[in-house]
Amino acid sequence: MEEKEQPKGGPHFVGKKDELIEVKQSFITLEGRDILVIYHQGVFYALDAYCYHAGGLLLNGDIEDIDGKMCIICPKHKYKLSLAKGECLYKGCNPKEKPPVPRWFSKGVKQRIHTVTETNEDVYVKLSEDTSWIESDFYQGEDGKVERAKT
Ligand code: FES
Repeated sequence: MEEKEQPKGGPHFVGKKDELIEVKQSFITLEGRDILVIYHQGVFYALDAYCYHAGGLLLNGDIEDIDGKMCIICPKHKYKLSLAKGECLYKGCNPKEKPPVPRWFSKGVKQRIHTVTETNEDVYVKLSEDTSWIESDFYQGEDGKVERAKT
């Protein structure tokens, strides 16, 4: 079948819905960017494939509900990245609290998230157009590839 020309930035066709649901996590390259398309509990997500922390491949990371946010756990050092926003969550205590109670905090958005849409059982991803630097961008570039190769 002839591949259809797809607009720059997308939306790009990434697969049939039932196939993506079956595999749950798919590694896909769009315009030279490596992303994961994840299906979890009825929702599709797309995010950069390499963890912002040290370039670990997020593919097959466990998915957990953390403080009401669905997160992928990086297989490398277990950082928790929210699938909807790309925030990195960590557990900490406020030492001024007596007694200190551990709770979840956000380090902010660290992982670039892309937009998933569905039309007639076809799934599409539109790459993020946010022009601000997001830390996971590093591992999509040439320097990041070199770093990834070292680990
Ligand atoms: Fe993902 Fe370190 S590379 S937690």
